[in-house]
Amino acid sequence: LFARETTFLKGVVAMDGMPPDDRIEVCFAGRSNVGKSSLINALTGRKALARASNTPGRTQEINYFCAGEDSHYLVDLPGYGFANAPLPVVEKWQRLLKNYLSGRATLRRAFVLIDTRHGVKKVDHEIMSLLDRSAVAFQVVMTKTDKVKVSERDKTLNQIRKELQKHPAAYPEIVMTSSEKGLGIETLRSIISTLI
Ligand code: GTP
Ligand code: MG
Repeated sequence: LFARETTFLKGVVAMDGMPPDDRIEVCFAGRSNVGKSSLINALTGRKALARASNTPGRTQEINYFCAGEDSHYLVDLPGYGFANAPLPVVEKWQRLLKNYLSGRATLRRAFVLIDTRHGVKKVDHEIMSLLDRSAVAFQVVMTKTDKVKVSERDKTLNQIRKELQKHPAAYPEIVMTSSEKGLGIETLRSIISTLI
């Protein structure tokens, strides 16, 4: 599925700019800097397909990528919970994100990324609740596991497990990844393959 090259399709800034909903898609949501773009790069084996950067809030559009011989879209979402931008800009992203997560019929699964160092924050809880209300199945992916000790990783894992009990739309299986070290990437690829 990931053998064929993934290509960038377009960056969307408003719901009326969405590509036709003619195939299923999975999206990657999470706080700014959690590692969404890096994860897409790791999954597709392309170093700079989705831009990844040190500057939080870098991805400001909903970026669509065509993958698997055009069988599905991978969708890189703008990070949430990033306040260091003018309020109208932040509000515009938030509205777009909410409209997308609650109104995209072909969205098969949302991957909600949680930074292993930080765990679930209020804004993550809110996004998960929005997904519950929208009946979008979601699955948590822990990122940057290479940055912490196993004990810290397991502490976050337990915190996430507790959080997921509050969310009917959540899959119980949590995927631990490091885009840097390539950990968990194959697991995530096979999960996506089963959805296509
Ligand atoms: P926004 O687009 O701003 O919302 O950020 P993002 O979620 O797309 O994060 P991005 O992929 O740009 O990564 C943010 C920073 O974290 C970059 O400096 C990455 O190199 C770093 N990073 C991402 N994944 C990993 C990882 O698995 N391990 C380590 N050590 N660093 C990572
Ligand atoms: Mg990004």
